[in-house]
Amino acid sequence: VTGPDLAGRHVVVSAGGTREPLDPVRFLGNRSSGKQGYALARTAAARGARVTLISANTGLPDPAGVDVVRVGTAVQLREAVLKAAADADAVVMAAAVADFRPAAYATGKIKKKDGQEPDPIVLVRNPDILAEISADRARPGQVIVGFAAETDDVLANGRTKLARKGCDLLVVNEVGERKTFGAEENEAVVLGADGSETPVPHGPKEALADTVWDLVVRRLG
Ligand code: PMT
Repeated sequence: VTGPDLAGRHVVVSAGGTREPLDPVRFLGNRSSGKQGYALARTAAARGARVTLISANTGLPDPAGVDVVRVGTAVQLREAVLKAAADADAVVMAAAVADFRPAAYATGKIKKKDGQEPDPIVLVRNPDILAEISADRARPGQVIVGFAAETDDVLANGRTKLARKGCDLLVVNEVGERKTFGAEENEAVVLGADGSETPVPHGPKEALADTVWDLVVRRLG
């Protein structure tokens, strides 16, 4: 059992997956359930932190003693993260954020037109929240943690992503249609900007969350 080593700290965790609407009935989304982010929020609260959990489209109940902010899209997630990060000691981005959103939103349901091919969906880039908060830290010494969901060349892609995003730690986990998303367990390698590699064996999402907080605490000094 870990002591209250996050007492007096404010931490921000994002969880779940953004949904980018096409029309009032449809969206582009992903398979994140929010379980990994909620495990991070619960374990941080258990270790004494004040926790702001920014939750995107999860069906999970609010964890006890945690401030929950619910959002839908990547743009809304960005607003909520920037606001909460202003006085945070650490930010952990476990949410699966859409890199692109539909360029246009149809205010009425998009209809099939008889005998016609469907219109292509045009996408525009979403803001990269993790890169933005890493480049422009709200506080000196703020610790920023990203996640990388990869399907292949997991570690090599993780190293490249860590450098590109500019965060302090990157939790690299492998995902697939039936892997990690929605599961109770996860396994990962936590890459540090200092070159460190911390493997976390297959186990409950809380165990990975506790390892992340151990590494954050060490960096908070
Ligand atoms: O929710 P679960 O079902 O428990 O599943 C957990 C999980 C697989 C969703 C989680 O462990 C995970 O890997 N989350 C990150 C998913 C993701 O978006 O990975 P990415 O490699 O596409 O993005 C890298 C990092 O940049 C992430 O920290 C992401 O939050 C952030 N990002 C991405 C795009 C963007 N526009 N803005 C961002 O901030």
